[in-house]
Amino acid sequence: MSRILLLGSGAREHILAARLAASRGAHELFAYMGANNPGIAALCQGSTVGEVKDVAAVAAYAKTIKADWACIGPDDPLALGVVDALAEVGVPAFGPTKTGAQIESSKSYARDLLTQYNIPGCARYRVSSSWEGLPEWVAELGSPFVLKPDGLTGGKGVQVQGDHFTTAEEGLALARTMLQEYGRLVVEEKFVGQEFSLLTITDGEACIHLPAVQDHKRAFEGDKGPNTGGMGTYSCADGSLPFLTGRDIQDAQAINEAVIAALKRATGTSYRGVLYGGFIAVQDGVRVIEYNARLGDPEAMNVLSVLENDFAEVCQAVMAGNLGELAPRFVPVATVCKYVAPEGYPVNPVKNEPIDVSAVDTTKVQLYFGSVDKQAGKLYLKGSRAVAVVAKHADLYAAEALVEEQIKRIKGPVFHRADIATPALIAQRVAMLKQVRQGA
Ligand SMILES: Nc1ncnc2c1ncn2[C@@H]1O[C@H](COP(=O)(O)OP(=O)(O)O)[C@@H](O)[C@H]1O
Ligand SMILES: [Mg+2]
Repeated sequence: MSRILLLGSGAREHILAARLAASRGAHELFAYMGANNPGIAALCQGSTVGEVKDVAAVAAYAKTIKADWACIGPDDPLALGVVDALAEVGVPAFGPTKTGAQIESSKSYARDLLTQYNIPGCARYRVSSSWEGLPEWVAELGSPFVLKPDGLTGGKGVQVQGDHFTTAEEGLALARTMLQEYGRLVVEEKFVGQEFSLLTITDGEACIHLPAVQDHKRAFEGDKGPNTGGMGTYSCADGSLPFLTGRDIQDAQAINEAVIAALKRATGTSYRGVLYGGFIAVQDGVRVIEYNARLGDPEAMNVLSVLENDFAEVCQAVMAGNLGELAPRFVPVATVCKYVAPEGYPVNPVKNEPIDVSAVDTTKVQLYFGSVDKQAGKLYLKGSRAVAVVAKHADLYAAEALVEEQIKRIKGPVFHRADIATPALIAQRVAMLKQVRQGA
């Protein structure tokens, strides 16, 4: 009997809990959650609610419940060294150490690593702690640019020319205030193309590359409105995406492998867990936007819905460093995940209003709870992305139709993006990249 501690409380952790609870081995599941997630709690033998950034408290809980190992969902505790803190109390974890997690927690570290190890796909960039030299750098770039705080900002710090500011002068003024707020910035060239995520499970040597996924960050249809944690995602049966070539996928996988090898050389230890490559397909290939040190949310719902292997066994192989002995298997189906979010999300979301999912046919779609709580048998919105609705089908558009059919049955003051993974939106994406690649 092994006892697993799951850290986190979003829909990503709900699907992790579901996969771990369904594991063949005899396991007991416990959760340490930032907020009560009734979906996770229902799958666990025990759970607690606490601050996930308090890595000492997480380690203490692991010790109290006598956890055999832990599975880490969110980025903040990884960046703060929760894996190191757990190791100190003798609990191995699925997830990188604080050193390994720098690939996500410091954008300059990630850019410098790519440069130092001659890994393709890096942007032309400069790391700056002062405004001095920035006007010259922006002039030298001679292209639109992007300003990135050199730390975790919960997806809210990056400023892109054309989206968040218009002229170089405005960008430089913004850089000045961002330097005051964050201390250090990466200033890099802006790429034009189609973004996608390619996640790799690794023990530092062997790699299981997961299907490529496309996320939709903007709150509203037509990619309008403010950025969010991600309103929905899709993946295809062949592991690629409609706008990508086989070469793009191979290149992205090779870049992830090179980063994993570079991390081992640079840090002297194996990177263990999930390496999430944020890529963009551009005119002449693929480029790296950023790296994350964990599963994405919503990407987790796509990739974990098709990875057939027993997920606890995958985690254990990663922690033991023998992932190479495990043959990955994938269900050859497309996946679509759409979030329902409270009205007003992300700026001014309604909270504590009831949401009713009881009419959803869960033989057709899976539901994973995010920011909802349960009281007296009823679900309530807690202000962030509420419920992820996930369908699998051999045909991508059939999966999309399944999600739409069922998501409409959810009652409450919520909205979702009906356009995600529709033929019209995907045709637009394909046409956009085709144009970019023809040099238009
Ligand atoms: N070099 C770049 N070129 C074009 N767009 C970029 C670039 N870097 C970031 N972006 C845009 O900004 C978003 C957020 O940047 P990212 O580096 O992923 O930071 P985070 O996810 O931490 O906010 C990306 O998803 C992408 O849309
Ligand atoms: Mg990102």
